[in-house]
Amino acid sequence: MLPQIVFSLLCSFLCFHVVLSRSLPSQSHQVLDVSVTLQQAGEVFSSKSKTFDYGQLVTSSSSSSFSLSLHPRSSLLKPIHNHNYTSLTLSRLARDSSRVNSLNSHHQLALSGFSRSDFKPVYDTVVQPEDLQSPITSGTRQGSGEYFTRIGVGQPAKEFYMVIDTGSDISWLQCAPCSDCYQQSDPVFNPSASSTYKALTCHAPQCTSLEVSACRTDTCLYQVSYGDGSYTVGDFVTETVSFGRSGSVPGVAIGCGHENEGLFIGAAGLLGLGGGSLSLPSQIKATSFSYCLVDRDANSASTLEFNSARPGDSVLAPLLTNSRISTFFYVGLTGLSVGAQMLQIPASTFEIDSNGRGGIIVDSGTAVTRLRTEAYNALRDKFVELSQHLRSSSSFSLFDTCYDLSSLTKVSVPTVALHFSGGKTLQLHPNNYLIPVDSAGKFCLAFAANSGSLSIIGNIQQQGTRVSYDLANKVVGFSPNKC
Ligand SMILES: *[C@@H]1O[C@H](CO)[C@@H](O)[C@H](O)[C@H]1NC(C)=O
Repeated sequence: MLPQIVFSLLCSFLCFHVVLSRSLPSQSHQVLDVSVTLQQAGEVFSSKSKTFDYGQLVTSSSSSSFSLSLHPRSSLLKPIHNHNYTSLTLSRLARDSSRVNSLNSHHQLALSGFSRSDFKPVYDTVVQPEDLQSPITSGTRQGSGEYFTRIGVGQPAKEFYMVIDTGSDISWLQCAPCSDCYQQSDPVFNPSASSTYKALTCHAPQCTSLEVSACRTDTCLYQVSYGDGSYTVGDFVTETVSFGRSGSVPGVAIGCGHENEGLFIGAAGLLGLGGGSLSLPSQIKATSFSYCLVDRDANSASTLEFNSARPGDSVLAPLLTNSRISTFFYVGLTGLSVGAQMLQIPASTFEIDSNGRGGIIVDSGTAVTRLRTEAYNALRDKFVELSQHLRSSSSFSLFDTCYDLSSLTKVSVPTVALHFSGGKTLQLHPNNYLIPVDSAGKFCLAFAANSGSLSIIGNIQQQGTRVSYDLANKVVGFSPNKC
């Protein structure tokens, strides 16, 4: 009698789970490991700072694919905040707000119908980058970009740390002679020491494709402003770009910045990975690229790859384009769920409308996912409703939903999932939406509302996931646990 009872109990348990995991697109709850997460956060201050072996660049077997190492900002630049995770988080969030302001202003400017080239900078006198776009001041010029890669420039190649950015197209680095350069960890690039450095003329197609350009004695000048007062100005040139030992590409148009203000402290410059014609993937005619973002606090590294196959288990989403703005990578998102319950959000919330407004982009440089206000409110309300077992705590910076988990080691939390058009579901790991904001156990829901019409999938939600942009087939793939 007894074995039969045990069997039927066991079966009702197992069989139920088998059915459950088959029939529901996502589990209603998952376990957040509070103590492991806090321990990981503490490692950001660990003094066993990784020294990068530049020879360790990953080499791929196929000659047409390139692979570079990719590091979180904190592993390159040790946080100056003396073991204070609260102030580290505050400065990260301040940076993130600047970043989103900059994307919003780029978006608005593109939709307003006039391009930035209508503003002609005066290069030979004092450049006023503030004149070039809507005035947004931040005061905190602390540096944007949370992930850095290492790339070679010139012949012979010199290697530089560069911020990766899917939200912009122009790649640039600081160049000697500097009329104004910020501090960087590598020596500044010296064009006269490279045999492949070549200035572009004003009529070169790369020059005429720039949003902001000028001409001086028939050489092309570029300028990029990032919406928070930071900018780079200099010669627009072609150079050889090399990808560690996996190969090099000659004649890539990049900015050689002689006057650089603000943002990118530590890195030598920025790699523009956007969808426009001047971005690095477009110029090297990459059919795809992908990255895996390790935890922002980790000392480990991952890779940025071009033309490699995406992992077979990727959750696929359609890659959409906005005819008004070629830089951004939009995805088809039909809805969101919390605790396996679909949120009541109109289907149009994440669509790009006929004026180019709306839509949701995937961005490597934004940390916290921003949703249109009505979508964020629905997400937050459902999360709060299903998290009544957690002790709530006061708001923190741009987060309005926080919990005190200090007395817990592990806790069950509602699952947040993204539902893409085409029917696939990306179930986020709890570490992708409940993040520590101090070292004592206060965690916040890492989503926020965007006042503009644009929604943005940020890098906290992408951490630990290989994100593949298949440009040839217009698909974005998300493969969790792939760093
Ligand atoms: C950490 O920084 C926060 C905000 O800057 C401050 O309020 C707090 O007192 C600091 N904590 C410690 C232990 O220094």
